[in-house]
Amino acid sequence: MTVALQIDDVHKWFGSHHVLDGLSLRVDSGEVMGLLGPNGCGKSTVLNIVSKLLPYDLGRVRLMGKPLSEMGHRERELVGVCTQHCALYPDLFPAENLHFFARLYGLSEQERHERVAELMHRFGLENFARTRVGQLSGGWRQRLHLAVSLIHKPKLLLLDEPTAAVDLEARMDLWRLIEGLRDSGTTILLTSHHLAEAQRLCSRVALMRNGQVIAVGSVPELLARLPGQAVAKVQSEDSEAVMQRALDLGWHVRQHTDEMRLLLPQHLSLREIVDALDGTKVSAVSVLAVTLDDVYLELMGEGLRPSPFI
Ligand SMILES: Nc1ncnc2c1ncn2[C@@H]1O[C@H](COP(=O)(O)OP(=O)(O)OP(=O)(O)O)[C@@H](O)[C@H]1O
Ligand SMILES: [Mg+2]
Repeated sequence: MTVALQIDDVHKWFGSHHVLDGLSLRVDSGEVMGLLGPNGCGKSTVLNIVSKLLPYDLGRVRLMGKPLSEMGHRERELVGVCTQHCALYPDLFPAENLHFFARLYGLSEQERHERVAELMHRFGLENFARTRVGQLSGGWRQRLHLAVSLIHKPKLLLLDEPTAAVDLEARMDLWRLIEGLRDSGTTILLTSHHLAEAQRLCSRVALMRNGQVIAVGSVPELLARLPGQAVAKVQSEDSEAVMQRALDLGWHVRQHTDEMRLLLPQHLSLREIVDALDGTKVSAVSVLAVTLDDVYLELMGEGLRPSPFI
């Protein structure tokens, strides 16, 4: 397994704001790594550093084994980037945007024509050939944005919230496109606030907090670190009594905002849960398999209690 990107102990300050505080992360060739974390935790900063849009202050970043700091203009083109805020030209047609970026990356005229035609076809953009980009829907604009980031066949693709601000149908379309890239072996580092998206697309995910990666692994690996295999969401007018009963049963209890979540040591039926909580005033129970949401809540959950991850 070759390493596409290795970030070691990177620090970044914006003035006195210490945004990255010794962040380390490895992305292997051929994998899709998801970078997750709350607003402002530094996800875009990481991507902007890797694509050399931003300098970093301390630490080491290696791309395909070579220090980023020693890379010339051509080697930087190993990376393709779809920034969080759309970088397309609204007055131009889709193919004109693709040609513009192809020229910027130094593709020859013949390569340009072949590549633009291939991407217009692959991303279904031919139907919008005469629509100015400013007139495209958000979903189609984002498809074009993704196509543009691939124009020079990068070895590492950075996608910053690729499906933010698009509707569900467009999001599912983009997921299929990203899955196609993944299945053809493209190495991808993407950020997202949609945990279901990360769960679907990523081979591994990294969770960020306070400028560091605090947990990394495949979704099954992260789920296996939870102190439960299923979650019962319980509503009760006497939540104290329910919590006490659950604790007596050896279940882990989490109170996130106004929702009580009981982490069950194994899958139990609704009947078994209600029986186990018998005598407490339970008004509603639903039981779900654990997901990345539970991992996220466990790590980010308002500092409720020491997390088993840390
Ligand atoms: N150019 C800049 N100058 C000063 N501060 C900045 C700059 N860019 C980002 N920041 C700050 O750095 C922190 C991290 O920002 P960043 O955009 O990396 O977060 P993020 O995790 O991508 O957030 P979001 O999920 O909202 O996109 C934020 O507090 C942000 O305000
Ligand atoms: Mg961001």
